[in-house]
Order: sequence, then structure tokens, then C-alpha cells
Amino acid sequence: MDYNLLRGLHIIAVIAWMAGIMYLPRLLAYHADAVPGGEMDKLFQTMELKLYRIIMGPAMVATWVFGLALIYVNATEVRGGWEYLQQPWMIAKLSGIVFMTGWHGFLGAARKKYVAGTNTRTARFWKMTNELPFIAAIIMVLAVTMEFGS
Ligand code: HEM
Repeated sequence: MDYNLLRGLHIIAVIAWMAGIMYLPRLLAYHADAVPGGEMDKLFQTMELKLYRIIMGPAMVATWVFGLALIYVNATEVRGGWEYLQQPWMIAKLSGIVFMTGWHGFLGAARKKYVAGTNTRTARFWKMTNELPFIAAIIMVLAVTMEFGS
């Protein structure tokens, strides 16, 4: 597949994944103040489930598939070797990938706790931690565009 098409598809998938990963904590924040078992509780549960299953899950898988394809094409055609994976910018990018995927799982587990009625996190917690994936995204994008340390 064309390398530039692959890059474009990767970025499109990233946009959808990031949109979900930053919107779900907003829902969890408002949800924290809803009465358990009430109408708003059920509405938030439905919104969170749909966002997680229909948008975030497929977007994460697509980001991974196109991202891994980019790693392979970079190594075999564009850069002619796997050494670039050890460069500082790529290590920063890979660290971001680990964090983002972990954060995705953390949000999924939090969603399940709301469904079980065992949530203990406050709206304040979700509002404060919501900056973390954005900071990670800034580092990841600048890592690949600037290739610092190469
Ligand atoms: C989830 C697994 C991911 C993998 C395996 C992956 C891997 C890659 C690879 C190998 C490239 C090509 C680098 C190059 O052209 O030299 C790339 C490009 C890019 N990635 Fe990712 N990435 C992932 C997730 C993300 C995320 C979460 C973001 C943003 C938050 C992101 C943002 C970008 C951008 C903006 C580019 C385009 C850089 C350019 O072509 O100039 N990626 N990715």
C-alpha cells in the first residue's frame, strides 16, 4: 500500500481515537454526580458504552494496524532497517503508545465500575486527569514530526 496513504489512514484513525479518549472522561465526570439507578445514570451508561465500543475500540485497532504497518514499511523500504526504533523520538512515540493504550483500558475498566455501581472516582478526578492523554498526544505528534535526537 502507498506509504502516504498509510500515513493518512493512520492519522484519521488517531483523530477518532483521540476524540473518544478525551470525550469519555467528560461523560464519566458528569456521570459521577448522577443518582445511581436513576434516569441520568442509565443515559450516561448508554452513551459511554456506545462511545467505547463503536468509536474508541475500532479507532484504536485501526490506529494500531496502520501504525504497525508504518513501522514495517519504514524498516523495509523507507529507512532500510529497524535501527530507527531505538532513536529517542521513536522511544518517546512508543512510550506514548503504551500510555495511550493503557489509558484506554483504564477508561474501559472505569466505565464497567459505573455499570456495576461501584465507582468511587469523583468528577474532579476525571476533569484533572483529562489533560494527560492530550499531553501524551502532543509529545507523540512532535516526536514523529521533529524526530528529535535522530
Ligand atoms: C497505537 C500505535 C501506534 C503506532 C504503532 C504508531 C506508529 C507510527 C509510525 C511508525 C509512524 C511513521 C513515522 C514516520 O513516518 O517516520 C507514525 C506516524 C504518525 N503517528 Fe503514529 N503510531 C501509533 C499511534 C499514534 C498516536 C496515538 C498518535 C497521536 C496521538 C500518532 C500520531 C502520528 C502522526 C501525527 C504521524 C505522522 C507523522 C508524519 O508522517 O510526519 N500515532 N506512527
